[in-house]
Order: sequence, then structure tokens, then C-alpha cells
Amino acid sequence: MATVPEPVSAVGPVGQEPAANCCSAFYELDWVRQLAEDIFHPGGAALTRKTVAAMNLAPGATLVELGCGTGTSAMLLAEELGMKVSAIDISAANIERAKIRAGSLGDQIHFERGDAQSLPFEAGNFDGALAECTFSLFSDQASALAEIRRVLKPAGQLAVTDMATGGPLPMDIASVLAPWTCLADAIDQDAYVHRFENAGFSVVEISDESAGLNQMILMLKRKMLLLGLGRAMAGQPIPDFDPGVVRHWLDRFKQEVDRGIIRYLRFQLQA
Ligand SMILES: C[S@@+](CC[C@H](N)C(=O)[O-])C[C@H]1O[C@@H](n2cnc3c(N)ncnc32)[C@H](O)[C@@H]1O
Repeated sequence: MATVPEPVSAVGPVGQEPAANCCSAFYELDWVRQLAEDIFHPGGAALTRKTVAAMNLAPGATLVELGCGTGTSAMLLAEELGMKVSAIDISAANIERAKIRAGSLGDQIHFERGDAQSLPFEAGNFDGALAECTFSLFSDQASALAEIRRVLKPAGQLAVTDMATGGPLPMDIASVLAPWTCLADAIDQDAYVHRFENAGFSVVEISDESAGLNQMILMLKRKMLLLGLGRAMAGQPIPDFDPGVVRHWLDRFKQEVDRGIIRYLRFQLQA
């Protein structure tokens, strides 16, 4: 049976310290990328489509994606919805990977390394802004919201989907898992609303998308099995990867989702 880390440990599931306040380095790990490249946010493409549809943007609208990871949603928005997408991420490795993945579709998407707290764009540029599973990672959310307002056109739309809490996190989750899963600085629904409204956004709609968390856990377990089997058959075990430990934490995560302590929320906002 696999060893399970002590709940008091501040060390993540792969035995490395996460970068303070940001899990970017974790998402750059080879095995994390292989496991989760196309399922970085709960709800996946279905939630991205629902979120962007709710923005009611005109065909050919301009949209900035914040914390785009390796470009999955940016590609979907450009390919399926014909949007003009600018996508930034604080991780240079993610942006490089996004450009490679986008291939010729990359001509329709402007990928750039950038920090959501200091956006590399002119004022009044975009009809919409999208932040999927990334807002809670911004160390200065007030600055990020001010920057988003600056680059949006008047009455532009902002959509945020993100981790939220429905009560205090149990200690094992808070100390071991939170720094790796966008939960480190997650707040509850009311606190999100307060931050958005303080920054001058009005809340148009909120929905609970926590079902996507359990779907994501299932998908990760399936991919873990396939990845582990494939690499074992090829005689190339994955360094720093203990499937038993990862499975333990996925199960603990699911228990807290089922208790309503870990949630995933969608906010549609207007500048
Ligand atoms: C969980 S991933 C989500 C990626 C993508 N939005 C998706 O749903 O597939 C979080 C991303 O936010 C990025 N990130 C964290 N802090 C950021 C910041 N201040 N500015 C821009 N990107 C940031 C990370 O590098 C990482 O790619």
C-alpha cells in the first residue's frame, strides 16, 4: 500500500515546496502536464462554452484570457466561436507550450507571457475577459481587477470560474493539498462578491459548478491509470509520482466536495 503524507506536512504530493502563493511550478511538472494538460479546470470545455455563452458577446468579439495555462480554452474560443483571443499566463513554459499546441490556429490567438496584475494591453481593448481557475492565485486581486477593468471596453464582461470554500478547510487539506490545487487562497462566495463589487463590477449571475470537480477527479483517476500503465509497459516509471498517494488525495478532495466545503463557482460580471 502507498505511503500517505502526514496531514501536518506542508509538503505537496510530489515532495516539493510549491512556489509561494502560486501553483504555476506544479503545473509545469512533466507528469502533471501529462495527467492534466487538457483538464486544468473543473467543468472542462463544457463549462468554458457555458461561461462564454453567458457573456453574450457578438461574433468576432475580442476577449482576453487571464492565466491561460497551455491554451486549451483560448484554442476553443478561437476555433469554435471565431473570437479574437489574447491569452496571457505568468508561466513562460506554459506560453511556449500553448504556442506549440495551437499550431496554425496560433495565428488567430495572441499568446504572451504576462501577469494579470499588470496587463500588457492598451486601455479599452476587449469586449470580454475570462479567468478560469486562476483568479484565486493572483496575489493582488484588487490590482488584477483594476487592470481587467482598464483593458475592458465600457460595460465589458468579465467571467470568473474558480475554487471557493463553503466552510473552513480541514487541516490535512489546508496544509497539504491547498497549495497545489488553487485552494490556498480560495474564499467563500460572499467574499468573492465583495471583492468584485469593491472593484466596480456588478454581479450578473452566479452558479455552483461543483459537479465539475467530481468529474475532474474521475477523469484524473482514469488518466492516471492509463499513464501509469503506459509508462510501466514502456519501462519508464514516472519520477516523483506515487499513484497511491495521488489517489488518496483525490479521494480526500472528493469527500470535501461532497460535504460542500470545496466548491467551484461561476461568476458573470459586468464592468
Ligand atoms: C489551474 S491553471 C488554469 C489554466 C487555464 N486557465 C485552464 O483552465 O486550463 C492556473 C494558471 O494560472 C496561471 N497564473 C497564476 N498566477 C498568474 C498571474 N498572476 N498572472 C497570469 N497567470 C497566472 C498559472 O501559471 C497557471 O497556468
